[in-house]
Amino acid sequence: GLFAMNLQLQDQEGFEAFRHAYRAAIKEVRTKIEILSEDFAVRHDYNPIHHIESRLKTTESIEEKLMRLDKEISIASAKENLFDIAGIRVVCNFIDDVYAVADMLTSQSDVRLLTEKDYIKNPKPNGYRSLHLIVETPIFLHDKKRMMKVEVQFRTISMDWWASLEHKINYKKDMPD
Ligand code: GTP
Ligand code: MG
Repeated sequence: GLFAMNLQLQDQEGFEAFRHAYRAAIKEVRTKIEILSEDFAVRHDYNPIHHIESRLKTTESIEEKLMRLDKEISIASAKENLFDIAGIRVVCNFIDDVYAVADMLTSQSDVRLLTEKDYIKNPKPNGYRSLHLIVETPIFLHDKKRMMKVEVQFRTISMDWWASLEHKINYKKDMPD
């Protein structure tokens, strides 16, 4: 939109560091989930995860959401107010796999569960189903350790199929993710 790129213009260097940190957080959590999946496959000869997707929220979407929440448009404000800058979607084969993988992830000593929204047990009125977790985990940069928030959405293949169709039809159809 018109207002896009304000974040970037304020402080180009800080903006690059900000994006880098969230990319690192995506890699860390994604790797944890891949290792859990492989470990499960080694022991049970069965892979609970069908596939994993991940994305870094676009600058445009960050600015749009901050405006929607009536928050300041700044890097500090984005870090404080948005929990889905780093996003991972784990598509499992069955519902039991969703809870098994989610439990194994949040049981790890360097993963802290901040919030959980269970739209599988309590679907949205439109029928949307997924388990949404916000977790916090450390990343290690040249000079320091930083705690990062990551949104992890768990769903089954059929929930994912439904959500992608519904997303095209209704949900924020003119908005970036
Ligand atoms: P956002 O502002 O979109 O991040 O939503 P929120 O902060 O209220 O959180 P919520 O947990 O409800 O939704 C987070 C994400 O889940 C969305 O960005 C979508 O990826 C997905 N989602 C939530 N509701 C729906 C829905 O009704 N349909 C589809 N297709 N996806 C949904
Ligand atoms: Mg979101």
